[in-house]
Amino acid sequence: MPHIVIDKIKNLSFPIKSENCEFLFQAENLIAVKTENAKFLIQIRPHKNGYLIKYDKITRPIISEIKKAYLDFVKINEANIIFENISGIKEKLPNKNMLEITDDLSNVDIVEVGFGSGRHLIHLAKKYPDKLILGIEIHKPSIEQVLRRIEHEKISNIKIINHDARLILSKIPSNKLHSIYVHFPVPWDKKEHRRVINSDFIKESKRALQKNGFLHLRTDSENYFSYSLEKFLEEDKIDLNIKKNIPYEITSKYEERWIKQGKNIYDIFMKSLEISPEIKEEFDFSFEKRLINLDFTPKVYKNFVIHLEKEFKINEKDSLIRATIGHFNRPEHIYIVNSDKPYYFKIPAPIKENYLAHLELKRLFNG
Ligand SMILES: C[S@@+](CC[C@H](N)C(=O)[O-])C[C@H]1O[C@@H](n2cnc3c(N)ncnc32)[C@H](O)[C@@H]1O
Repeated sequence: MPHIVIDKIKNLSFPIKSENCEFLFQAENLIAVKTENAKFLIQIRPHKNGYLIKYDKITRPIISEIKKAYLDFVKINEANIIFENISGIKEKLPNKNMLEITDDLSNVDIVEVGFGSGRHLIHLAKKYPDKLILGIEIHKPSIEQVLRRIEHEKISNIKIINHDARLILSKIPSNKLHSIYVHFPVPWDKKEHRRVINSDFIKESKRALQKNGFLHLRTDSENYFSYSLEKFLEEDKIDLNIKKNIPYEITSKYEERWIKQGKNIYDIFMKSLEISPEIKEEFDFSFEKRLINLDFTPKVYKNFVIHLEKEFKINEKDSLIRATIGHFNRPEHIYIVNSDKPYYFKIPAPIKENYLAHLELKRLFNG
């Protein structure tokens, strides 16, 4: 982790403007920094030779911004650097084929969930050269491998998001998608709540699909097949088509293994037969008044969690609250500056579960 050790720290009063940064406030051992391109926290820890300065993982920006903050922090303290490991660290360029959950997804035509080795994802890109394909995957090594192939084969119609697919579909406009593919999802026989296919996912898929657009589930797990069929049948205005042991256009690595083992392969095609209403979700993450009566026990709701973890004092009245909010399986770590007009140090990703957690936070602590 890039860090520096400096010999002394002055008693400073914030905010302080320096050459490349603005140091906004101090909350115990955390200092809020703003540069032209980022807003984040750095941490100060006592060290046997002085003070260790490192970045805060939750708000971590790219390394060039961290370097600016460290160097300006040295200057405002008129300190000397005793140790540093930052000069040799090179910036990893953001990959043009990667998207973030905060990016606009309104141009996506096709979604593949959990693309693994990416064989089918690349097949889709070639089959539909005029469509934009979004691959959603939680496993970073798979993503890196597929990014290399995309670059090598000069494919320009694939974008990738490293996130839980169950949170992404709600960001896609209604009636937009040509198709959604979920091929060989992890069966999670003992942890059903982790399955990609669930009632919410099916509802969101149907909403995001064009009329006559389809979701294709392909699985080797009989259990997952029957469970999914039951969930699909909860939905109205759909056309369901089931197949067993029918070869598909392309065989994935997993499929090859299952076929060798003589396992059955099941397909479910769910076609959406109606035009869904547009979603106009404007997520307002503001607070009107100071959060009071803080309760630091984790709270678990049906679709989201709220866990206030720790409070760092800024002064007698104000504080910085570290918390985890949002989707039960993929909560977001955030900070709230709790003052007369509280605000998120960085606005949470604009997804439904974060917004529901935000509303509940206000209800709980604003009375
Ligand atoms: C069994 S593999 C199948 C990979 C590929 N579809 C195939 O057929 O070879 C399941 C993949 O789904 C990914 N995955 C599991 N849960 C996911 C989720 N909630 N969101 C996105 N990807 C997920 C896993 O990381 C894994 O790569």
